[in-house]
Amino acid sequence: MNYQHVLEQIADDVAATPGRGRSADYIPALASVDPSRFGIALADTDGKVYGVGEWRTPFSAQSITKVFTLALVLAQDGPTLWEQVGREPSGNPFNSLVQLEYENGIPRNPFINAGALVVTDRLQTLTGDASEDLLDFLRAESGNPDLGFDIEVAASESAHGDRNAALAHFMASYGNIRHPVPTLLDHYFRQCSIEMSCADLALAGGFLARHGVRADGGRLLSRSEAKQINAVMMTCGTYDAAGDFAHRVGLPGKSGVGGGILAVLPGKGTLCVWSPGLDERGNSVAGVAALDRFTTLTGLSVF
Ligand code: DON
Repeated sequence: MNYQHVLEQIADDVAATPGRGRSADYIPALASVDPSRFGIALADTDGKVYGVGEWRTPFSAQSITKVFTLALVLAQDGPTLWEQVGREPSGNPFNSLVQLEYENGIPRNPFINAGALVVTDRLQTLTGDASEDLLDFLRAESGNPDLGFDIEVAASESAHGDRNAALAHFMASYGNIRHPVPTLLDHYFRQCSIEMSCADLALAGGFLARHGVRADGGRLLSRSEAKQINAVMMTCGTYDAAGDFAHRVGLPGKSGVGGGILAVLPGKGTLCVWSPGLDERGNSVAGVAALDRFTTLTGLSVF
């Protein structure tokens, strides 16, 4: 398969789409990003990267980082995490509070904000510095030592972080958060603010396509754990649009409100697409269209 040719074809086919939707406006530092920007990259399992458009431009990884914190916790702590967080789609917006009270402070899955806060809290217990541990891992897997936090985005989110604070305090009242909420939020906002390009993210997610094996050939996760993360990406990775994403794209995927989406081709490679215009559920309009086009053109879905 000529991946470069396929990506060029996709960029042509979706050329009218970037610019549709709106940049995330609840984080002021993200609201000013031009929604019409577009890039897509594919890393094969050997680490060769193909790309089109702004595939080397760093953007705010946001919730895509939740895949990596989950992997780090599972790698170090195994399945005990699943006592603190579920693995069912929520059917609710990513920042929703409503289910948490009915379900005794146990979030539905690790990719809604409540679940991601539990995972980051766990990583903080395991490492003593969750956001740095994550950054080290992303630098190693992407091969890019220049990756860093965008302190302006983290501060902007912190200044508008009442809802995440509410989620964290509420779960703390059930004993499902172990660190002081301000410490946890600090790590969570830094985690979300990491700037990465499509190429960085596609490379960093390579272990998901290699059934748990890291870029250097060492094993991070068992084959079964890698399957579990891919499965949760498929069922929960695009918030309350996960059914539509599975229907259109048919790949495990994780989106972020920076406009990125990471998608996994198990055994073959990882794709990352970026375009900041979001639909009403917080997923990149052009990003979903491009991945939809990819699986239609190539037949490479998991189904
Ligand atoms: O918690 C937030 O609102 C953001 N830092 C992350 C949002 C995002 O990308 C979607 N979350 N699931």
